[in-house]
Amino acid sequence: MGKRVVLAYSGGLDTSVIVRWLTEKGYEVITYTADVGQGEELSEIPEKAKASGAVEAVVEDVREEFARDYCLPTLRALALYEGKYPLTASLSRPLISKKLVEVAEKFGADCVAHGSTGKGNDQVRFELSVWALNPDIEIIAPVREWEFRSREDQVEYAKKHSIPVKVTKEKPYSIDRNLWGVSIECGPLEDPWEEPPEDAFQITVSPEKAPDDPEYVTVGFERGVPVSLNGKRYDRVHALIEDLNTIAGRHGVGRIDMVENRLVGIKSREVYEAPGATVLYEAYRDLLSLVTDRFTFHYFLNHVPGEYARIVYEGLWFTPLREALDAFTSKVAERVTGEVRLKLYKGKVSVVGRRSPNSLYVEDLATYSERDSFDHTAGRYFTKVWGLPLKVLGKVFRTPSER
Ligand code: ARG
Repeated sequence: MGKRVVLAYSGGLDTSVIVRWLTEKGYEVITYTADVGQGEELSEIPEKAKASGAVEAVVEDVREEFARDYCLPTLRALALYEGKYPLTASLSRPLISKKLVEVAEKFGADCVAHGSTGKGNDQVRFELSVWALNPDIEIIAPVREWEFRSREDQVEYAKKHSIPVKVTKEKPYSIDRNLWGVSIECGPLEDPWEEPPEDAFQITVSPEKAPDDPEYVTVGFERGVPVSLNGKRYDRVHALIEDLNTIAGRHGVGRIDMVENRLVGIKSREVYEAPGATVLYEAYRDLLSLVTDRFTFHYFLNHVPGEYARIVYEGLWFTPLREALDAFTSKVAERVTGEVRLKLYKGKVSVVGRRSPNSLYVEDLATYSERDSFDHTAGRYFTKVWGLPLKVLGKVFRTPSER
């Protein structure tokens, strides 16, 4: 009997060809397919995998685990890679890797395989995650080493081995979708000057086609977890995110177009759609600023979002560093309870109201009306002391050019 391998399987052309390719190399292939909210019907996956040569096909709905243990911690860190990308594809890789390792251990396989290319980030995320969880597992990445030069080569190979592939005309894009969002690459998007064609988008309408009337949505949070939309409670956070994708998507909210730095050193043009995540980031940031004291809030903004995003993007999910940052954001999140009201209109989301039992906003202090309780006389001495360094500078060096 040959070696056993567990393959991360989507059912698309690449991974279907990989099943057969591994079989020809003498492996017994078990496929693993996760439902991470990619919006595809997975009931035919086992049949398809087996028709391609797999001995076993595992399909699992992991949407809640994905939302709760991967998306939410990233939301609580307000992590956006290079200030823009909500890490949609980056977050599913560690979870799928964890599952690959579990299935490998269950079926006594000593290898896992994935369909990522040699110039992307996903290979790094898969492999670092697998090694962190089981350093003895061997990893095979067929796309990095096989002989196929084009899609046509693969289609021909699939036909020759009667692998079921859809012969529909493929869109020119490479699309990775889950409940946190969609990433779109390739085809016309490879020219960074070219506006993304409308057919690139999967889950948002264009702002031009969005309704002429704004829609309001109220997001409720409890200790950093989104728990309600417009007063309707959700037991499962993935369902809330999916509904919010629909609501914000119909207003064209959450489209992101950027040139980003990949780990492998190249810049690539990426288009993302993350309607639900975009609304949740806006809402979370706003509520956080309402309930968090200035020292903690500034520390958080200066140190957490960028660092956390880099960790996720660079495949370092299963590290003590990520866990330590989670401990910090979870502590801060304990106060993040309340509601945020947002307005969705023509591609834009704006926070228009917020309230919380933990609010640190004190109206008596903030108001300019007669109810004002702030001691204005203190301002004089405060300003004097705070400004002293500048006064000293000004005394020592008379003109700014001397300083
Ligand atoms: N550039 C993004 C990232 O590194 C998206 C990758 C999406 N993968 C794909 N196969 N289209 O996270």
